[in-house]
Amino acid sequence: MVCLGNICRSPLAEGILKSKLDSNRYLVNSSGTASFHIGKLPDSRSISVAEKHGINIRNQRASQFSQRSFEIYDYIFVMDKQNYKDVIALAVSQDDKSKVSLILNQTTSEGIDLEVPDPYYGGDEGFDNVFFLLNKACEAIADRV
Ligand code: 4NP
Repeated sequence: MVCLGNICRSPLAEGILKSKLDSNRYLVNSSGTASFHIGKLPDSRSISVAEKHGINIRNQRASQFSQRSFEIYDYIFVMDKQNYKDVIALAVSQDDKSKVSLILNQTTSEGIDLEVPDPYYGGDEGFDNVFFLLNKACEAIADRV
């Protein structure tokens, strides 16, 4: 799960998907394309909305996306089109590139390319919306894998 800062959207995506999958069988992780929040806890508003739905993400610490993720993971879900460009720029093969997709393409028809809006500068309702969108997408991912 990849966003920009790895403190708002992708930590939620990681927590939600983990809550739907068997941790003995699936490795789920998140990171950001930027380095500015490395080592930080998720944003307190992400922690709150996750807790409201019974999911604890306080154990997560922000990290930066690196090329190594292409070797480790089968799927790389990004939140928005800028994340997509930034991650694709680090791909070294067609196989790497084929792992990357917008997470909301899991729940919308092909070609629509919706983005998970960045809630960082907005209010709490932005985080409720992000949770709602990611929960639906993660449900679809869990069904698929
Ligand atoms: P995220 O949100 O990419 O969902 O973690 C953001 C967090 C921090 C900033 C931007 C987006 N920032 O500019 O610091």
